[in-house]
Amino acid sequence: MRPRVLVTRLIPDEGLDPIRAACDADVWADDLPPPRAELLRRVVGCRGLLTLLTDRVDDELLEAAGPGLRVVSNYAVGYDNVDVMACHRRGVAVGNTPGALTETTADLAWALILATARRVAEGDRYVRTGQWRTWGPRLLLGSDVHRATLGIIGLGRIGAAVARRAAGFAMTVLYHSRSRVAPELETSLGATHVPLDELLERSDIVSINAALTPETRGLIDAVALARMKPTAVLVNTARGPIVDGRALADALRDGVIAGAGLDVTDPEPIAVDDPLLRLPNCLIVPHIASATRATRGRMAEMAAANLLAGVRGEPLPSPVPIPPGGHS
Ligand code: DGY
Repeated sequence: MRPRVLVTRLIPDEGLDPIRAACDADVWADDLPPPRAELLRRVVGCRGLLTLLTDRVDDELLEAAGPGLRVVSNYAVGYDNVDVMACHRRGVAVGNTPGALTETTADLAWALILATARRVAEGDRYVRTGQWRTWGPRLLLGSDVHRATLGIIGLGRIGAAVARRAAGFAMTVLYHSRSRVAPELETSLGATHVPLDELLERSDIVSINAALTPETRGLIDAVALARMKPTAVLVNTARGPIVDGRALADALRDGVIAGAGLDVTDPEPIAVDDPLLRLPNCLIVPHIASATRATRGRMAEMAAANLLAGVRGEPLPSPVPIPPGGHS
C-alpha cells in the first residue's frame, strides 16, 4: 500500500512529482493555508505530513494524525511553527530545508538594506504620485551603505552570507550570536563578535538573521531600538516576533531610528491598519526572502526527500536537531 501523506500547499513540481509518484498524496491546492479544522481532519491516518511555516504542528495535530505518523517535513529552514519536542516524544522525525535558501535570503536582506538606507520605495512613491518637480539638493537624502558598519544579529548560514556580501561595500562587520563562531569564519568574514548593546549602538545597519526562539522573541524592543543611532536602519528577514512591532512603529515615527526594511512581520499578514503601514520610512515585503524559482524548487526537492525518507522509516537527509534534553 502506498503511504498516505498530506501536503498542505501546492509546492513546486520538483517536490510534488516524487511525492505523488511514491505516495497517496492529499495536496491542499488552495492559495491560502488549510483552516485548522480541515488540517485536523485531513491529517488523520497519514504517515507523512509536509507543512509550511503557516501550519502549526503541535500536540493537537499530532494526536489527530494518530500513531502512524512518522515524519513532519517543514518546507522552510525555520521551524518555529513545529513543536519539535512533541514530535520527538511521539517518535515523529522532523525535517527542514537548510542551505537551500541561504544565498537567496541574503540577497533579499541586501535588497532591503540598500532600499531602506537609500529610500528607494519612498522615491518610487514620490515619482508615481506626481511629486517629482526637479532635481533637489536635499531631496530624499539617505545614508551611505559603503564603508558603514553592519551589525548582524545571528551569524548562522544566512547571517554569514549577508556578512560575506558586505565585503563588496567595504563595511565594518559586527555580529552578535548566542555563541561565537569559529575564529576562521570570523576571519574570513572580517566579522567581530560584540555584545548586543554594543552592536546596536555602533551599527549603521542592523540585520536580523537569527532563528525565532524564546530568547530572541521580542529581542528588539523599545529599549533596544533606543540604543540604535538615529540614522540607523533595521532590516529583518528572519521572523517577525523578534521585533516588537509597536515599539518599532513608535521608533520610526519619532526619529529614534531612520528606517526599517521588513520581510517578516508579526502577525503575518500584517493588518492593513497597522501603524507600520502608515510610515513612509518603513518598507515591507510579504515574506519573500526565499522566493525565487530556483530556490523554491530546491526547497521542494529537500522537503520531498525528507518526507519520503521519513515515510520509509529511513533517516532524514535534513533532520531538525532534537532539542536539548530530548535525547534519551
Ligand atoms: C524559511 O525557510 O524559514 C523562510 O522564512 C521561508 O522560506
